[in-house]
Amino acid sequence: MSQSNFIPTAGASNVPDNALEAFRLNGKVAVLTGVASGIGAATAELFAQAGAQVVGGDIDQQAGQATIGRITSRGGQAVFVETDVTKREQVDALVDRALGEFGRVDIMANIAGAMFPGLIEDVKEDQIDAGINLNLRSVIYGCQAAVRAMKDQGSGVILNISSGAIDVAYEGIGIYAFTKASVAMLTMTLAKEVGKYGIRVNAIAPGSTLTPFTTWRLYKDDGTLDQDAFDEFIEFAKGMSPLGVYGEALDQAYLMLYLASDAGRFCHGNIFRSNGGQTMVW
Ligand SMILES: NC(=O)c1ccc[n+]([C@@H]2O[C@H](COP(=O)([O-])OP(=O)(O)OC[C@H]3O[C@@H](n4cnc5c(N)ncnc54)[C@H](O)[C@@H]3O)[C@@H](O)[C@H]2O)c1
Repeated sequence: MSQSNFIPTAGASNVPDNALEAFRLNGKVAVLTGVASGIGAATAELFAQAGAQVVGGDIDQQAGQATIGRITSRGGQAVFVETDVTKREQVDALVDRALGEFGRVDIMANIAGAMFPGLIEDVKEDQIDAGINLNLRSVIYGCQAAVRAMKDQGSGVILNISSGAIDVAYEGIGIYAFTKASVAMLTMTLAKEVGKYGIRVNAIAPGSTLTPFTTWRLYKDDGTLDQDAFDEFIEFAKGMSPLGVYGEALDQAYLMLYLASDAGRFCHGNIFRSNGGQTMVW
């Protein structure tokens, strides 16, 4: 972060005329994983609306393309790359596509992830491997690919997704929580290592947020939404917050935008939380 020449004295101000300018991503190239759904889709679309050129990856080709379609139909620039983030060569290819198409990578958001439920006493070998591969190993791949692209530029922002599950011990999601706690520590360590190259690294730890990640249990066998179960879940979810509100993917995307933009230029090596205070009420 370059130091401005502003010397703070009473009566002096360096607040810009346009308050929102520092939140814009014009001219920035953003690579995101998990863009087919939920927080990844909302973040990709918001980044594009803020002016970024978007390169989005996801294992779900159809829904990923749909996100990119929504961006381009509103005049944004975006490409989709089918990507399984558990495969290093595919994460490398995603970042290489951004370099080939747009010449640089300013923002790398490692968003793809999933829940791995089960009591610790029961969890099987393959579930442990799957949890680590998707929620942790993929983030390491994304961070490494991003640093490779950003180091010579002397600038860049890496954003990882941890979880509110690192703040409270919830029964039955131990593997998930441990992968997300690891993402938090990985983020802080990487921030220490690459800050000297001008690369900012942060994570967000979303509280329970309304996406397919949280609503998958609310569908009937025939694939239709169980409206009663959905309404009951929303009431329960609102009750988790002292505000009595339940967050949406866009709430997480706004925090991601702040951290990705120059407005967040002093944010580094931290885990930021948009969770409606859910972690205060237990
Ligand atoms: N929604 C929440 O309550 C919540 C809370 C805390 C953290 N998170 C984290 O936020 C991130 C996004 O979750 P979400 O709520 O948007 O969930 P989501 O299920 O809506 O989206 C997850 C996306 O990841 C993609 N994905 C899964 N496996 C993949 C793979 N191998 N390669 C590439 N893409 C893959 C899916 O196709 C999907 O598009 C996850 O890391 C999740 O753990 C979510």
